[in-house]
Amino acid sequence: MITEYISMPEDAPDMEGIRRAGEIIKNGGLVAFPTETVYGLGGDARNPESSRKIYAAKGRPSDNPLIVHVCRLEDVAPIVREIPEEAQLLAQAFWPGPLTMIFHKNDVIPYETTGGLDTVAVRFPSNRIAQELIRASGGYIAAPSANRSGRPSPTIARYCREDLDGRVEMIIDGGEVGIGLESTIIDLTDKRPIILRPGYVTREMLEQVLGAVDVDRTTISADSGQAPKAPGMKYRHYAPKGDLTLVEGTKDAVVSCINDLVRSASQAGKRTGVICTDETKDLYRADRIFSAGSRQDNEAIARHLFRILRECDDLELDVIYSESFGGSGLSMAIMNRLMKAAGHKCIKV
Ligand code: TXA
Ligand code: MG
Repeated sequence: MITEYISMPEDAPDMEGIRRAGEIIKNGGLVAFPTETVYGLGGDARNPESSRKIYAAKGRPSDNPLIVHVCRLEDVAPIVREIPEEAQLLAQAFWPGPLTMIFHKNDVIPYETTGGLDTVAVRFPSNRIAQELIRASGGYIAAPSANRSGRPSPTIARYCREDLDGRVEMIIDGGEVGIGLESTIIDLTDKRPIILRPGYVTREMLEQVLGAVDVDRTTISADSGQAPKAPGMKYRHYAPKGDLTLVEGTKDAVVSCINDLVRSASQAGKRTGVICTDETKDLYRADRIFSAGSRQDNEAIARHLFRILRECDDLELDVIYSESFGGSGLSMAIMNRLMKAAGHKCIKV
C-alpha cells in the first residue's frame, strides 16, 4: 500500500483533504490524524473489518480495546446503554478535551472495536482537524495511538510515518501535538469512578467535579498483583530499545548516583543517555543529555517525553537513566509512562 501524506494547520483545516480522508474511513480504510494528546490511527468504529485492520497495522493484540472518538455530545447516546450523571458533569467540564470515559456499550459498536468487552471507551477530542475528520467519516472513529505496538505514542506526523508507512491509506500532518501524553481514562461503569490511565486531566481536576475518585493501583506499581482494568495497560509500553532505569531521591543524591552509573556503563563501552530537567542538565556527563523542561513546568515535561524516548532509539543508546517526578497532578501521568517505559526499574537513593 502507498501511504498518502497531506498536511494542514489546525486552525485552518484543508476541507477537501478532510473530505477525502473521511471517504477513506467510510470505505473501511485507515487514516492517521492529529489530536490534542497524541496522533491517532483512525478507522470506522462501527465497522468490525476496520478495527481488525487497525490491530493488524499496529501489530497490536486484539484483546486491547480501542477508543471511539466523537465530535458532538449527542453522538454518545446512540452507542451506549446509559449516560450516568457523572458523565454529564465530566463532559460539561472537560469535553471537548483529553478525557476518555468508559460506558456500557450497545450493539452499534462491534466487539472487534472493544476487544470483546461489553463496555466502550469514548472521547471527544478538541483538535479541530480531528473533529472535522470525525464529522467527515460519519461520526465514530476508533483510534488507538498511531504507533506500532510497544513504541511511544507519536507527537509529530514523522513518527507516524516511521511506524506506519505503507500500512495505512493516509497520514494527516497537523503539526506537533499540544499535550504529548494520551488522554486520561475514567471508568464510570462501577459504583465509584476510577481512573484507569492518568493523563492531562488530573485526579484533582476530576475530584473537583465528582468528589472522591479512585485510581487503578496498577497505573503506578507493577506489583499490586492485579490485572489492570484497562487491558492495554498490562502491556510493556513505550520502552526504548536501550535499558532505561529511573532514579528517585533528593536532587544531589540522584545526580551523583546517575553520574556513577553512567561512568561504569561508559567504561563497559556502552552508549549512555540521561533524561533530566533544565535545573540539572549541566550537572551530568553522558553521551547524550535530554532535558524534558523545567521541573516547575510539568506540561513541558509531558510534551517532550515521548519524543525523547524515540530519540534514545535514533541515537542507539544502550543505557538510559532518568530522573523521576513527583506523584500528583500531571506528574502522575508522567511517572506512569516513564515507569512503563522502564519496565518499573527504579533505584531509590
Ligand atoms: O489520547 C488518547 O486517548 C489517544 C488519542 C489518539 O485519542 N488514544 C489512545 O488510544 O491512547 P490507545 O488505544 O493507545 O489506548 C487506549 C487505552 C488502552 O489502554 C485500552 O486498554 C483502554 O484505553 N480501553 C479502551 N477501551 C476500554 C474499555 N472498554 N475498558 C477499559 N479500558 C479500555
Ligand atoms: Mg497507545
